[in-house]
Amino acid sequence: MTGPRISSARLHETITELSKIGRESTGGITRLTFSKADIEARKYVSELIRKAGMSVSIDKFGNIIGRSLNAASDAPTIACGSHIDTVPNGGALDGAYGVLGAIEAIRSIHERCTPTKALQIMVFTEEEGARFGAFIGSRGFAGLLNASNVYAMRDKEHVTFQDAMHNAKLKPSSQRSRQHLNIKAYVELHIEQGPILEHEHKSIGIVESIVGLGDLEIEIEGKAGHAGTTPMQLRRDALVGAARIILGVNRIAIKTGIPAVATVGSVTSYPGAPNVIPGRVIINVDYRDVSLPRMRGLEAKIISISKQVANESNLKIVIRQKSLTKPAKMSTNVIRMIETSSRSLELSYKHMQSGAGHDCQNMARITKTGMIFVPSRNGLSHVPNEYTKPKQLEDGANVLLETLLRLANE
Ligand code: GLV
Ligand code: MN
Ligand code: MN
Repeated sequence: MTGPRISSARLHETITELSKIGRESTGGITRLTFSKADIEARKYVSELIRKAGMSVSIDKFGNIIGRSLNAASDAPTIACGSHIDTVPNGGALDGAYGVLGAIEAIRSIHERCTPTKALQIMVFTEEEGARFGAFIGSRGFAGLLNASNVYAMRDKEHVTFQDAMHNAKLKPSSQRSRQHLNIKAYVELHIEQGPILEHEHKSIGIVESIVGLGDLEIEIEGKAGHAGTTPMQLRRDALVGAARIILGVNRIAIKTGIPAVATVGSVTSYPGAPNVIPGRVIINVDYRDVSLPRMRGLEAKIISISKQVANESNLKIVIRQKSLTKPAKMSTNVIRMIETSSRSLELSYKHMQSGAGHDCQNMARITKTGMIFVPSRNGLSHVPNEYTKPKQLEDGANVLLETLLRLANE
């Protein structure tokens, strides 16, 4: 008799249900941290975790923690999970698949057996950084952030993390921190978000390392004024300065060379009217590379070009580091377990790097960590038409299930 297997129908149903929460008229999904949609999604997922035979608690960063019933808080534990926040107008699978696949895997395990170690699901807060800063939940959980600093973080409307969490009526239900949890391993299931697996016709990606990524918020201040009456040479146009910085950032990444990348994907211009010279602009620079020294190099050049533009254009700038997540290597032991699980399920696999950031790179700082990828159609992600075939989603969730069982019975 084979071991437990996930129910593909149930997985498909939960992915479909969660994708309805925060759905826009464009077809995309927007669930920013502690928004109405995020709160509704949290309720839905918490209910599913309970149905999988687990208790639900919330830690001080708003992370949802599902845990095998009756497991002592210091029992050896195998954890898995991901996030349910999205980028604005994102897809149905980034993060959501990892959480729902983990719930489905654990539910299927619990229906058939009780592993020796406790199982735990992590639903991390604010992975995407679309509101307060990337990876707040996993960085906090891994002890890399101080809660009072997190509570003071502000979104673009100046709402603090603490107020947003309070307004969402989320109260930490336990004082438990990672020190009280004996987490032996963490495994994350995710869509690849790139084209490699599809291109090479492989079912499973086994991640070996993940890039580091940083987010610099640059606030540029000039002088607002009348667009018709202010002569060109008398202007201090913050958006023109931002445009020069954006081009500079692009050139820096190209010059640094593969695999460095840098992107300005968010520009907020104030007051934002066609007939007013922009007096204040906020841009966010996302920059990534494979080693910390290379990341620091990119960062120094981005800061330097920003200061140079500000000087030349008589603008003021303030640069804030919103987040910095170090590159991470996955554990050779967990990599081996994922490989053995893929082989036993007769699935083709490929060892690969991740150019996208993931919560597991913070978990890698505190425990043995591994990551399972499934193909993404046309390599697309962070867009509404993110898609993976049901059979591929099922395969990935079964590899997770097998890997959890192996780790839990090790
Ligand atoms: C996470 O979604 C990332 O931006 O890589
Ligand atoms: Mn993700
Ligand atoms: Mn993402």
